[in-house]
Amino acid sequence: MSVRVIVGSQWGDEGKGKIIDILASRADVVIRSAGGNNAGHTVKNGDEVYKLRLIPSGILYPKTLCLIGSGVVLDPKVILEEIDGLQARGVTCENLRIDPRAHIIMPWHIALDGMSEKMRGSSEIGTTKRGIGPCYMDKAERCGIRFYDLAHPELFAKKAKEVGELKNLIITKVYGEAPVDVDAVIAEYTEYGKRLSKYMADVSVLAYEACKSGKEVLFEGAQGTLLDLDMGTYPYVTSSHPISGGVCTGTGIGPTVVDDVLGIAKAYTTRVGKGPFPTELFDETGDLIRERGFEFGTVTGRPRRTGWFDAVIIRHAVRVNGLTGLAVNKIDTLSGIGDLKVCVAYKKSDGTILKDFPATLEELAECEPIYETVKGFSGDLSTCTSYDQLPEDCKAYINKLEELCGCPIKMVGVGPSREQNLER
Ligand code: GDP
Ligand code: IMO
Ligand code: MG
Repeated sequence: MSVRVIVGSQWGDEGKGKIIDILASRADVVIRSAGGNNAGHTVKNGDEVYKLRLIPSGILYPKTLCLIGSGVVLDPKVILEEIDGLQARGVTCENLRIDPRAHIIMPWHIALDGMSEKMRGSSEIGTTKRGIGPCYMDKAERCGIRFYDLAHPELFAKKAKEVGELKNLIITKVYGEAPVDVDAVIAEYTEYGKRLSKYMADVSVLAYEACKSGKEVLFEGAQGTLLDLDMGTYPYVTSSHPISGGVCTGTGIGPTVVDDVLGIAKAYTTRVGKGPFPTELFDETGDLIRERGFEFGTVTGRPRRTGWFDAVIIRHAVRVNGLTGLAVNKIDTLSGIGDLKVCVAYKKSDGTILKDFPATLEELAECEPIYETVKGFSGDLSTCTSYDQLPEDCKAYINKLEELCGCPIKMVGVGPSREQNLER
């Protein structure tokens, strides 16, 4: 039995949901510990496709306990829609538990997310406008509303009134926009609190007990390493800690319980939203990858930016997450597009070669990728049922990535379904 953390190694959307769903068939507990409904995790089971935003991707297995930790920001309306949607499709959510410490996304957070993006103009971050940043701001400011508060109507009304009126001052006086109707919000959200209160449980205690009693535990990362507030491409990041360390603070467990950290990557690179992307493609190859890989945001539907595999980024992910293995998805998307490029290092304008991802955007702006060209491969990979069946040139590409990243590639994805994952 093991305790395993699954993290995104690039800018999100690496196929974490698929890998969690596959591993969850053997897991007792799946835990989300960061982010909110900015995440969109796709799980394909037969012809059924589920797009999960807050609920852990282990939910399709009725015996798996699915936990939402204190580090998650919870939009109560969205999670109720998600619960209702799953139940309407015959998926039980009885095994869901939410930590009382999780912060609640309120309507003013969503409004302020949109307003601050508008104010930034051309230097906008390209957020999902789900209120994520403003909710984490209130958490750090120590004026946030937590799940415990939401589930206690009098406490909730008092806190929401205080903070809501303060937010309205910002909305009206700083942004010059119409205020939120705080009383109407309190009435609406009190009902959400009543419906959700049955899911409340101390996730730190449940997670600790599961880890200590030798259960199979999976931590489901959201977002990706390069979106981490500290280790990502700041300020073009999210407001939480998607890296493996975030699991400890966002669940309430110590790092000593973790056995393995599996990084999920795509066989190329994508990014939604703004910010630097050294290997981005602006040509037909980039369009081809987008079309063939259906690279459109799960949450916002925005076209994803596409580019070559960047080993500098993955080496950064290996280091900051302590990765013990990698799963590389979407190798099928690259089949038939011709020879492939892989970024092996960056070259600075003064000629210096960088093997490590730079700490600041200013340094990154001085860098250009150094590529190696690798022979392409062709054929329908989606029907391969074992690693050996992949074309030799495809295996050579995977070997090249492994050598450059310095981390064993343990799984390779050849399609979105559970079966389309080849163990290596
Ligand atoms: P997540 O946010 O990391 O869970 O990833 P998303 O679900 O947002 O995006 C990944 C997309 O790729 C989804 O549409 C998946 O169904 C799909 N996908 C995952 N693995 C593979 C793969 O190996 N091949 C192909 N073609 N699609 C995949
Ligand atoms: P999953 O879990 C891809 C990006 C947004 C934006 C930046 C900040 O599906 O991999 P935010 O709304 O969080 O303040 O936006 O972060 N972003 C993601 N990109 N996948 C995600 O999640 C993301 N969650 C946030 O596009 O650039
Ligand atoms: Mg996603």
